[in-house]
Amino acid sequence: MLQQKTAIAKFVSDALSLPEADVSTMIEYPPNPELGDLALPCFRFAKTLRRSPQDIAKDVAGVLSATGQFASVEAVGGYVNVKLQRELVFKDVVRTLQEDPEKLFSRKRGVGRTAAIDYSSPNIAKPFSVGHLRSTVIGQAIVHMLKADGWKVVGINHLGDWGTQFGKTIVAYLKWGDEEVVRQNPVRELFKLYVKFHEEAQANPELEEEAREWFKKLEDGDPEATRLWQWFISESLKVFRSMYDRLGVTFDHYLGESFYNDKMQAVVDELRDKNLLVESEGAEVVDLSAWNMPPCIIVKSDGATIYATRDLAAANYRHDEFGADTLIYVVGAEQTLHFSQVFKVLELMERPWAKNCKHVAFGMMKYNGERMSTRRGKVVYLEDVLEKAVDEARKIIEEKNPNLADKDAVAEAVGIGAVIFNDLKSYRMHDVDFRFEDVLNFDGETGPYAQYTHARACSVLRKAEESGFQPADDFQVMGVHDSEWRLIYQLGQAQEVLERAVDDLDPSLIARFVLDVCHAFNRFYHDCPILSAEAERAQRLALTNATRKALAYGLHLLGLKAPTAM
Ligand code: ARG
Repeated sequence: MLQQKTAIAKFVSDALSLPEADVSTMIEYPPNPELGDLALPCFRFAKTLRRSPQDIAKDVAGVLSATGQFASVEAVGGYVNVKLQRELVFKDVVRTLQEDPEKLFSRKRGVGRTAAIDYSSPNIAKPFSVGHLRSTVIGQAIVHMLKADGWKVVGINHLGDWGTQFGKTIVAYLKWGDEEVVRQNPVRELFKLYVKFHEEAQANPELEEEAREWFKKLEDGDPEATRLWQWFISESLKVFRSMYDRLGVTFDHYLGESFYNDKMQAVVDELRDKNLLVESEGAEVVDLSAWNMPPCIIVKSDGATIYATRDLAAANYRHDEFGADTLIYVVGAEQTLHFSQVFKVLELMERPWAKNCKHVAFGMMKYNGERMSTRRGKVVYLEDVLEKAVDEARKIIEEKNPNLADKDAVAEAVGIGAVIFNDLKSYRMHDVDFRFEDVLNFDGETGPYAQYTHARACSVLRKAEESGFQPADDFQVMGVHDSEWRLIYQLGQAQEVLERAVDDLDPSLIARFVLDVCHAFNRFYHDCPILSAEAERAQRLALTNATRKALAYGLHLLGLKAPTAM
């Protein structure tokens, strides 16, 4: 409806000499469709124009009516309510979608911009928990959304592949590990060993010392330590990659923390040159008290650099090597302070792009209402969750549609889609709960429901084809039923939805849109005959085809597959 909003804003701004942008941002979707399709509240203009809102509304209504471009225009109190010409909007929306769904969603605002986005970024030799899932799927959806909006996007997996914990894992592996067992199930076994290390270290504190020594060896390039460390990485990556494959998640670069080992000295030197480093209890830190933050530690008292130092080096690298003007980090809310500190230090280092660094935090993931914590040993393994979701999806399909071709592929798409959608459908800052019965409910606000609605549209089109009817690009609109209109009206908001989702970096807005379109389509399907309609058949087939394309595109933005039959 952006086009219609722009048209209204232009007429009004010409007539009243108000800035067009001020008018267009005021235009709203009235909560009650009876009132109109679009509404312009005039209260805000009263002061500038020194007239009453009622008076202005009357004037505006007159101006808009006179254009002859709207079905009806009415001033009610301080509001102007506009009804659009349904036939015109119908044609416009459906044609655009039939031609290229991306066009309905985007005017490519991001052309010329590059975003580096850091997502997933799990830790080597530790389980990829359902908590990490959030970063992965939110990040991947943001990648799709930004690309749709014209951005160049560089996706980065900032693996946690460095740090003292590797000393611990090495010690535990050498003491209690078994190569064969680890090979069978690397991430779980290595994590078990890591947990055992902590248990044993309670009674045997000298283990900590051993671990420190092994990490030191690793830092010094000792061949044995390096070999084990690399082995842990390659085994963990096998597990992670297979999960990414299933989830449809991809990265342009896997650049772990260790990649920055030789790039941190430059950061330390620059900070020192710029007089930003101060000494504090033997460590070198950037004082951030002026911004009410604790100091950002750059070099620890033992001379080691840390997480923040790596993030500073990584940020420079992303800007300098990838040409990124915007850096996005999809990481849990518990790291909010860390990113505020890093961004502030970049600003103090006079990086003009520091203001374009964004921490995209998200709410917690609960599993059947319970909080997960790796520390308390309460780990839910994502592979298990995915496996179970696909199994359950297969059972449902077996029950509903036993003759479906390609059952396994559909079960995979639906099971995985259910997990992804559940994670994306609530505002990203809200906590999400994961319950199989909710996630896979075909009648709820779920991935399977959205995929099913898409498949239903495909099935209508298949049946049409069997009867010799094809959706055509050129069709007459023979009146628009209210249920057709509600669907068009939802579809017509695609561009505003994508833009808001990109501006807020929140895929839930797309998920909401997909659900709204599904509801509207199902109502249309229920209320309006399609194949058996005579006069309206062509327009309804075109509308069905357009909806199918919009849903497939919306699901793609979220990272879900859209099977054509279910
Ligand atoms: N590996 C970290 C963790 O699991 C997340 C890394 C996020 N990215 C970053 N550039 N710091 O907590």
